[in-house]
Amino acid sequence: MMIAAMLLAAAAPAPPLAFNYCVSCHSVDPAETGLPAPNLAGVAGRTAGSRPDFAYSPAMRAAGKGGLVWTRETLNRFLANPRAMVPGTAMQRLPPGAPIAAVVDWLTGDQASSKR
Ligand code: HEC
Repeated sequence: MMIAAMLLAAAAPAPPLAFNYCVSCHSVDPAETGLPAPNLAGVAGRTAGSRPDFAYSPAMRAAGKGGLVWTRETLNRFLANPRAMVPGTAMQRLPPGAPIAAVVDWLTGDQASSKR
């Protein structure tokens, strides 16, 4: 437990390997647009479905209008089963065993403080 915490603290802000589960669709380089999925730069604290440069599903836009904001808790819930949380979202379920917690830790930790 302590060793894991130390390893996490020592990690550089670069995406963890776990982000490989996301890069086929998403980017965290703020300059990259036109991808199959919304840019995730600075996603922590952002209202769902709110990037002007992405054509979200009506379901994701409605979720944002309804008050959904991306936090550690909502990201974990969404990634565990996107359509259970946002019925009708265009994002499909990740492969079983995808290291969701590691990606969320990074999106709400190092990435959040370095890419705003
Ligand atoms: C096969 C493509 C694909 C993969 C892989 C994928 N996503 Fe998505 N994701 C999407 C699409 C498409 C949307 C837009 C959903 C909508 O509009 O309903 C989305 C939306 C999201 C959103 C909401 C963004 C916003 O601006 O509101 C988050 C957060 C997210 N994905 C995180 C992830 C993470 C983290 C991973 C990797 C663990 C991942 N996704 C893997 C396609 C993907």
